[in-house]
Amino acid sequence: MSERVPGLRADARIGLEIEVEGARYRACCGSDYLGLARDPRVIEAAQRALTRYGLSPSASRVTSGETREHRACEEALARFAGTADAVIVPIGFLAAQALVEALEGQHLWLLHRRAHAALEQAARQLVGAGRGSFGERWEHPDELRAVAAELVDSRGRGALADAFFPASGITLPLPEAHAALGACGAPQHPLVIDEAHSFGVLGPGGRGLAAAAGLGERDQVYAVGTLSKAVGAHGGFVSGSRELCAEIRARAALYVGATPMPAAVAVAARTAIEIALAEPERRERVLALAERMCAGLRALGLEAPQPSFPVFSLSRGLDPQDAQRALRNAGYLAPISRYPGVPPGGALAITLSAAHEERDVARLLEVLEGCRTLRS
Ligand SMILES: Cc1ncc(COP(=O)(O)O)c(C=O)c1O
Repeated sequence: MSERVPGLRADARIGLEIEVEGARYRACCGSDYLGLARDPRVIEAAQRALTRYGLSPSASRVTSGETREHRACEEALARFAGTADAVIVPIGFLAAQALVEALEGQHLWLLHRRAHAALEQAARQLVGAGRGSFGERWEHPDELRAVAAELVDSRGRGALADAFFPASGITLPLPEAHAALGACGAPQHPLVIDEAHSFGVLGPGGRGLAAAAGLGERDQVYAVGTLSKAVGAHGGFVSGSRELCAEIRARAALYVGATPMPAAVAVAARTAIEIALAEPERRERVLALAERMCAGLRALGLEAPQPSFPVFSLSRGLDPQDAQRALRNAGYLAPISRYPGVPPGGALAITLSAAHEERDVARLLEVLEGCRTLRS
């Protein structure tokens, strides 16, 4: 049996601080990139909605579980994403599943080798339902071109990939992947990208990697995302045309058969999105901090995402557990990540948010400098 390694268990979260085992630290964990998860305006709005609506919607949206807040959240998301509409689902993990269920036809599904489990699960579900099959995995656009062209048949090819891979610090070369998939000559080639980490952070106004590449539904590029990272709430979403969202509402088993997120969560998400729209300096700030951290890590000979992103997965050039202890002694808490793609000993996973300050980056780098080993 494989050993279960416990994660960090918080007793309280107060602003940027986290309380664990009776001690308070500055949190460098989670994906609250814009520092909105504990913004007092978000919390107060959610508390008011909790009083008004109670906790559970107690039914699916197609019966009596929908509140005006669910719809208002979707409208705010569409405004942020620059799309005509959006559909929210109870968890981000299921957003890709809701999307692929709405796509027409049979596909040969081509999963990125480092794809998040949510994407694999979405494709598996379709294949299990007799809607297509799996092709080879790919990582680089050239490989995608090759695996998409491998089988000569009339099925469409569908590719699935994360926009940003936190465990390896890599951003998907989206224009190249899109061109590679299109080059196979199949009649349809949807490219589903999971913008869980990139939404709110990357691209113009934080609209994500597809927006940065100028690619969207007309190019068969479909974006899904989560409300639990930059938006600081909970749940998942698909943003797109009115037609696509209508298809999801009609066809996704999850939309029809599951209780939606509590209205208070939809209110928290909408409030956070409105703050993110009104305060673009949050995104600018976390990106500037990420840039400084990346430059500092490289100067120390440690790994850093390229282009920069506020997540740092450190497994080489230091001992992750020793470095975690040293950070803890300095008042910072960062978890050890054991996600797929991370070496067996785990990686020290540091994340920054707009609530961090320059002095945090300076201190983190100072501590990490003292943790370097000659090991690589
Ligand atoms: C790429 C990716 N997709 C999906 C998810 C799942 O989102 P949620 O945690 O909101 O269910 C995550 C969360 O860690 C993720 O990193």
